Amino acid sequence: MNDLTPTREQREAALEGMGCKRKRVEDIRFTQGKGNYVDDVKLPGMLHGDFVRSPHPHARVKSINSEEALKVPGVLAVITAETLKTVNLAWMPTLAGDVQMVLADGKVLFQNQEVAFVVATDRYAADDGVNKVMVEYEPLPVLVDPFKAMDPDAPVLREDLAGKTSGAHGPRKHHNHVFEWAIGDKDLTDAAFTKAEVTIKEMISYHRTHPSPLETCQCVCSFDKIKGELTIWGTFQAPHVIRTVVSLIAKIPEQKIHVIAPDIGGGFGNKVGAYPGYICAAVASIVTGKPVKWVEDRIENLTATSFARDYHMTTEIAATKEGRVTGLRVHVLADHGAFDACADPSKWPAGFFNIVTGSYDFPVAHVSVDGIYTNKAPGGVAYRCSFRVTEAAYCIERAMDILANKLGMDPAELRLKNFIKPEQFPYHSALGWEYDSGDYHTAMRKMMETTDYASLRKEQADRRAAFKRGETREIMGLGVSFFTEIVGAGPSKNCDILGIAMFDSCEIRLHPTGSGIARVGTKSQGQGHETTWAQIIATEIGIPADNIMVEEGNTDTAPYGLGTYGSRSTPVAGAAIAMASRKIKAKAQMIAAYKLEVHEDDLEWDIDGFRVKGLPEKVMSMKDICWVAYNSVPPGMEPGLEAVSYYDPPNMTYPFGAYLCVMDIDVDTGVYKVRRFYALDDCGTRINPMIIEGQVHGGLTEAFAIAMGQEIRYDDAGNVVTGSFMDFFMPTAVETPHWETDFTVTPSPHHPIGAKGVGESPNVGGVPAFSNAVNDAFAFLGATHIQMPHDFWRNWKAAKQLGVVG
Ligand code: CDP
Repeated sequence: MNDLTPTREQREAALEGMGCKRKRVEDIRFTQGKGNYVDDVKLPGMLHGDFVRSPHPHARVKSINSEEALKVPGVLAVITAETLKTVNLAWMPTLAGDVQMVLADGKVLFQNQEVAFVVATDRYAADDGVNKVMVEYEPLPVLVDPFKAMDPDAPVLREDLAGKTSGAHGPRKHHNHVFEWAIGDKDLTDAAFTKAEVTIKEMISYHRTHPSPLETCQCVCSFDKIKGELTIWGTFQAPHVIRTVVSLIAKIPEQKIHVIAPDIGGGFGNKVGAYPGYICAAVASIVTGKPVKWVEDRIENLTATSFARDYHMTTEIAATKEGRVTGLRVHVLADHGAFDACADPSKWPAGFFNIVTGSYDFPVAHVSVDGIYTNKAPGGVAYRCSFRVTEAAYCIERAMDILANKLGMDPAELRLKNFIKPEQFPYHSALGWEYDSGDYHTAMRKMMETTDYASLRKEQADRRAAFKRGETREIMGLGVSFFTEIVGAGPSKNCDILGIAMFDSCEIRLHPTGSGIARVGTKSQGQGHETTWAQIIATEIGIPADNIMVEEGNTDTAPYGLGTYGSRSTPVAGAAIAMASRKIKAKAQMIAAYKLEVHEDDLEWDIDGFRVKGLPEKVMSMKDICWVAYNSVPPGMEPGLEAVSYYDPPNMTYPFGAYLCVMDIDVDTGVYKVRRFYALDDCGTRINPMIIEGQVHGGLTEAFAIAMGQEIRYDDAGNVVTGSFMDFFMPTAVETPHWETDFTVTPSPHHPIGAKGVGESPNVGGVPAFSNAVNDAFAFLGATHIQMPHDFWRNWKAAKQLGVVG
């Protein structure tokens, strides 16, 4: 070895593989305004569509008159449900097994529902046309309060379901009932409550909110009449599923549909489902023979395409006097709005809510969920959450704090006492999951030591005494949250979407010069897949990450995958990437053995190539193997170096974390200050620590928004009163607290590289940390549970109700 021969460390560093804080390669175009988003797609002769929407939350549509609209210069067509009926597309199936109106068919069921689609030569003309469409409505009684949905005299919302006593998920109890779903052992759970020394019961609501990505939902549809082919550019988190759905409902052969998801400006669950805009733009293109663009505006996005949460969880814990939990019972009233359009795996109408036993060793538990219809927008998307996991984490983390209060125990101590122990993994929960790995005690203790939790509690006690003496008007809260997520949907034994198993895929093709392309079934919306997927390949096959181009989002080139949501990309596609790499490596080993004239078993892997065992100078790098693969492979072997893997994971992965929020609240104004926020995450093997940190920062910012003010709120008449960023809390850098991040590493035993997902953890764990901080601040004044969101006004109101302000 001479001085110029790179050391092992230098060779490893040159790869920029797993564990490296590799800079995000996609940021080169994003930070220079060179991204290519759907709205950048401009095709010759392209038309524009815009919706006529209902001002009424519930009304009969008596008539639609398009005469004046068609006189507006540039307006070419007005599509209504009657038009769509001619192609059997007035209604569409939802991912949750319900059906949804594409355009109002006889009545409207929520404010801003799509009534007609105006197609014009430009967006302004389309908008002028929208204003000229005359719709005659007959208002009907409105149902807003989910707790009144199943009253005997509640208005009938879904007339199309009249007489249907069962739906996609079993029997319906009432005309506004969607489904009932239950899991766990009811008798054993009831018995645990009968025997319990201590119990708590609280109605814990997780309010309706919205993912509100920076880029709204949009598409361009272009139908080629000659070839009979439909090309759709769209903001799709799951492009292949969209292709299949379009083929099934539009009856176009799947090979003639090309779905392209270009750069996406945030999704957070909002861009999983199929929306009326996609159907209408496709029909308009088929009818006119021209490309048609549909771009949602902000109000439309917030009020019509999806919502998240709206779970009302009556939660009970049974425990001993010493604080050992002995049973959990939860009943959920789930407000699904006008149509059940939840984007959950098909068999899971309440998502993975049965992770609600959290990080604790509950011997028994029972959960039941009633889904109901109201006059609100449909959806129920997993807003940076793996299918109702954030609702479950909020439910159990608030309930554990309420129990700690009742027992007079420290919330952290109560958690430590009830955690699943490291030796119990793989752990079978009372509600049916098999947790793969975890070391909760280490994570919790690290959080407590790093933040000096004991001193913070001491300070809180001193400040509470000072408040009681009248020396301060500020109260201090410590919000502890310890969450377990379930991500990586999912094993085909558990999960499918419309019958398609939820595997994921990767195809890698290496080129002669030692570089290559990897095509993956996922679709990044800002998570940095182009950076991290190449890092997995770099470590696995010794080709520098910079030499691997990653491509996602084109259904013509990428292998079939189920897309990106629910932090599933790393657990499922990440595994497919490693498995495809290993197939390539196996072939490369045969090539190297042939060229080095040894048996394959005499070779060992060494960072970026193979060497002969015991003869370190006899080596062959992957770069050289790539060349040979296209030039002189062993006799009988096919040339080339490529592989594809479709990975069906054996289990989900279970990331976890310990968070602490320190908050001060002024009781006279309700104004809060997040003094400190510490987030420790364990996502198993870490591919790119810098990207993980970015994911945690983003997720915590969303959690902060949700807990402290972000809400989709309806007034009693069914009007959305938070339909723009004037009223819907969207924190900027000014309001956003400083985040401290930390980690432990407990690899997943079944994942090829030991990695678990992380993207959603901070949203899941962050919301209870904020809410527990507010509740902890008020607890010594007698509060048991204050509902989110905790904006200034509600904090002040809580102080007033507790009698500390006049
Ligand atoms: O499905 P989604 O991409 O939203 O979530 P994810 O699988 O948690 O990945 C988000 C980003 O974090 C990706 O770029 C991952 O490669 C990265 N990540 C990582 O570096 N290490 C992990 N253990 C998990 C995710």
